Amino acid sequence: KNSNRKFPNNFLWGASTSAFQVEGAGNSDGKGESVADVRTRAGKYMDSSVSVDEYHHLDEDISLMKKLGLKAYRFSISWTRVLPNGDLSIVNEKGVNYYHKLIDELVKNEIEPIVTMFHFDYPMALVNKYNGWVSKKSIKDFYNYADFLLKEYGDKVKYWLTINEQNVMVNQPEIMGTKANNKKELFQNAQVSNINMCLAQAEVFKMARERYRNIKIGPAVSYITALPENGKSKSILLAKQLEDYFSFYLMDISIRGIIPQSYLNTLNDKRVHLDLSKKDLQTLKEGTANYLGVNWYCTTTFKYKDKNNKDGFVLDDFSVIKDSDLDYTKWGWSNDPVGLRYAMQQLNDRYPEIEVLVTECGWSDEDKLEDGKIHDEKRIKYFKGHIEQLRLAIKDGVHIIGFCPWSFIDLLSVNDGMNKRYGFVYVDRNNHDEKQLTRYEKDSFYFYQSVIKNNGLKF
Ligand code: BG6
Repeated sequence: KNSNRKFPNNFLWGASTSAFQVEGAGNSDGKGESVADVRTRAGKYMDSSVSVDEYHHLDEDISLMKKLGLKAYRFSISWTRVLPNGDLSIVNEKGVNYYHKLIDELVKNEIEPIVTMFHFDYPMALVNKYNGWVSKKSIKDFYNYADFLLKEYGDKVKYWLTINEQNVMVNQPEIMGTKANNKKELFQNAQVSNINMCLAQAEVFKMARERYRNIKIGPAVSYITALPENGKSKSILLAKQLEDYFSFYLMDISIRGIIPQSYLNTLNDKRVHLDLSKKDLQTLKEGTANYLGVNWYCTTTFKYKDKNNKDGFVLDDFSVIKDSDLDYTKWGWSNDPVGLRYAMQQLNDRYPEIEVLVTECGWSDEDKLEDGKIHDEKRIKYFKGHIEQLRLAIKDGVHIIGFCPWSFIDLLSVNDGMNKRYGFVYVDRNNHDEKQLTRYEKDSFYFYQSVIKNNGLKF
């Protein structure tokens, strides 16, 4: 019989979402346009104008959070809902008040708000003005936005995340609206954006740590656990290099304040030039995070294609292979719980002093609503495995402070519309028909409710 005593009493059992993926009200109450609005409108699925309309279902959704027993809710603030132009030229009071209401309601219900400042919804006005993160001007505008948020909500919110999955955006730059004339220039622009985001974030870390002593502030990094295609040392090294390139470089910059040499070498091989001054390096050094958010979903087995791809993206040099022992979602993400324990140990080895919050982790499926019920056994199986491995990782000594699965409620996927569902709560709509947006509790809702109630799995 397993003991559950290893989850700390104040463990943050949470769930996550992001603004454009749940809120809707995309064109109302003074909200400005974001890259996510434009991107989803141009895609083949639904757009973000309604999503699952949390903006108009706030009371109902918070009641569901309460019923689920959440100790924390991770959500993001829509930058253009509070600052429609991205800069301080207009402040949208309705947007500002919406987040006050959300935060106040969470606090009233004893649910810890965990706030992401920027989650894939960069202001279009700044893309049009100076190509967004490619310009150094973006640093000041992000700083002003973060400063605005901390002044407004800093006394109510303890846990802050600056940028969600910067490392995903850098490798899929259309998510941040980056413009370029060709692929080589796009990679160069993405890497310049990467550094500008790091500098902006470092300035915010520094300011927050000086002025808001009681808050925790860190990045939310996408962490891919890369497995080698075989046991040969060359494959193991390539898998490690991929992790270094994709995830650890950003954690090193955010936590240690240094750009790892291996990262610069990889960029050099791709003929990317970064213009970094002594002052920039000093900024990175002085502004570091005081905890780490990690989005971890699965392990991925990589095979190096070994082709001469000097002007392409680093990830294009690899293909993904499936492991016949593992179950995969319809979109190819594995269910490999032991990978989570391994990943957590890696973090502890590398950053022994840092507290880790799992900011995303989840299983997507085309769930079916039948007689008001959703039997999502595969999701339950996924979470059973991962929560048990999380417990073991805590027992191993990793400082894990919370677990915020993706997602609290079904939402608009970043790349695959509404059929790819992750939520504990089902929303009755599809890509082409909003229907009534009625909420239903899935079987996994009751499973997670029991996990939270028991402070871990009950065997
Ligand atoms: C993470 C993002 O990359 O993964 C989320 O932070 C996203 O915003 C999630 O929804 C799942 O990805 P997708 O493409 O299935 O929506």
